[in-house]
Amino acid sequence: MSVIFSGIQPSGTLTIGNYLGAMKHFTHLQDDNECYFCVVNQHAITVPQEKKALKQNSKSLAALYLASGIDPDKSTLFIQSEVPAHAQLGWMLQCVSYIGELERMTQFKDKSTGKDAVSAGLLTYPPLMAADILLYGTEVVPVGDDQKQHIELTRNLAERFNRKFNDIFVMPDARIPKVGARIMSLQDPTRKMSKSDSNQNAYISMLDEPNTIIKKVKRAVTDSDGVVRFDKENKPAISNLLTIYSLCSGKSVEDIEAMYEGRGYGDFKAELGEVIAETLRPIQERYHELITSSELDDILDLGAEKANRKASKMLAKAERAMGLERKR
Ligand code: TYM
Repeated sequence: MSVIFSGIQPSGTLTIGNYLGAMKHFTHLQDDNECYFCVVNQHAITVPQEKKALKQNSKSLAALYLASGIDPDKSTLFIQSEVPAHAQLGWMLQCVSYIGELERMTQFKDKSTGKDAVSAGLLTYPPLMAADILLYGTEVVPVGDDQKQHIELTRNLAERFNRKFNDIFVMPDARIPKVGARIMSLQDPTRKMSKSDSNQNAYISMLDEPNTIIKKVKRAVTDSDGVVRFDKENKPAISNLLTIYSLCSGKSVEDIEAMYEGRGYGDFKAELGEVIAETLRPIQERYHELITSSELDDILDLGAEKANRKASKMLAKAERAMGLERKR
């Protein structure tokens, strides 16, 4: 039994990258662990968000968590801004972070390079993420590959805090899936699939209609040799599609290669589109039921209550350790 925490930003509809790299793995953890899953809306505002869209995306993400199998009787599902301890501990951890280490984060570099206006929040994003994790005594953080560096920083901040003030934080470990930790863009296999990509053909959204999915897979870039074979170095686009196929169908990459031996990319892509649509179909059905129901708000109210109860205890310890508490 371990404490598990993970978060997803409500900055647009999730992609199958988010699903295959992170969300899909959450449901298996619920039975034997104490799990917290969070809609990290305060992380989302580190880049400009339209207020109506942010509100909608936050609820939509909560519904997707549930539709993908998160069970509110087993896991705590909540919205970050409804648990003030995150921002409070986030501030305290900013005060133990060094600007230099925050500037070295690749996500900060990617999101800030070439922009005229970069928010201070984009730089101080990782201490807030560290607060998310450390507040719950988290031992395991299931994430995709791109979050590895943030978890390493979380460990550094926890260790620094424990050494300077008091030994209160548990050291978390990232759990990164062996396959699918980095699903690539359908239009450029050297880039990560991302929900903020300006080219909609580059990603498949978890709420895309079957026809859209099939079209996007047909338009996916490939190579010119026409052989369905996994070779990350020389055939990155086909290898990415094979990874997606394997994760969605449960078949091994070798079996899929054998299925398409002597057949072209046309068949492979057409059937892959169907396989993805079929994987998402039950999630989408459940999503549409949830998004219009009052059940969702009740679940989130209860989630916030449970998360507040747990998080306030660690916050009090951290305040005491730093000398921010008046009475003790
Ligand atoms: P976010 O919202 O960008 O992504 C959510 C999860 O999806 C994974 N992911 C991918 N996995 C495989 N292939 C891809 N192309 C792909 N794109 C995204 C991410 O690794 C992540 O696991 N900083 C986090 C949110 C966060 C968080 C936390 C996570 C805030 N606080 C505490 C864990 C614990 C983020 O921006 O994820």
